[in-house]
Amino acid sequence: MHVLRVDASVRKDGSLSRKIGDAFMEALRKTHPAVKLTERDVGLNPPPIITSDWVAAAFTPQDDRSAAQSQLLAPSDQAIAELRTAEIILITAPMYNYGMPAGLKAWVDSVVRKDKTFTFDLARGDFPLEPVLSGKTLVLATAWGEFGFEPGGVRDGQGHLVGHVKAVSGYLGAARLEHVGVEYQEFADDRFEASLQAALERATELGASL
Ligand SMILES: Cc1cc2nc3c(=O)[nH]c(=O)nc-3n(C[C@H](O)[C@H](O)[C@H](O)COP(=O)(O)O)c2cc1C
Repeated sequence: MHVLRVDASVRKDGSLSRKIGDAFMEALRKTHPAVKLTERDVGLNPPPIITSDWVAAAFTPQDDRSAAQSQLLAPSDQAIAELRTAEIILITAPMYNYGMPAGLKAWVDSVVRKDKTFTFDLARGDFPLEPVLSGKTLVLATAWGEFGFEPGGVRDGQGHLVGHVKAVSGYLGAARLEHVGVEYQEFADDRFEASLQAALERATELGASL
């Protein structure tokens, strides 16, 4: 069992999304003591943001790339290699300004790459992109300060973290996505305590079941 853990909170101490991820890993280790863990901390060490040169390099066939282009793609190559071998992807992420943290977006941009994680063919009609990787389980552990982002909730339509991860999950090779989240962090009241307790229990259940 090989897990790739991607942590996106810019804080390590007190991070709730990391805490849910820890509960998941602790339970998973009980059933799979030999689990192999690769950790990529995009919160504390964000990957480089893609640039015009990066896109040009990524779309240049490998054999035609200059040494500088290959060097530019090296962090992406490494991140994709880590993704490829993982059976479980654990992403822990806060909501920042109603979406994913910039470090996580930079990681997504570096791993979703033509001919590495997706192929593009207009012969497929209106859906020319096809994922290369498959069969993985993606566990998404989130934290946010407000509440009510779910369908019918008081902030329905304002939260774009989970939907965005879902939208790209196919290119990460995820066949299954499990979301565990804590809400109400900013209120620090009983609702927050109940939400945290439920998220930790769910993460533990999930870890034990995989
Ligand atoms: C820069 C920043 C932006 C935030 N934006 C939002 C937001 O848009 N919606 C929300 O509900 N909470 C927001 N929060 C609150 C965090 O999501 C919350 O504190 C969460 O617990 C952070 O994750 P962590 O505990 O894993 O660090 C924001 C916090 C920070 C620091």
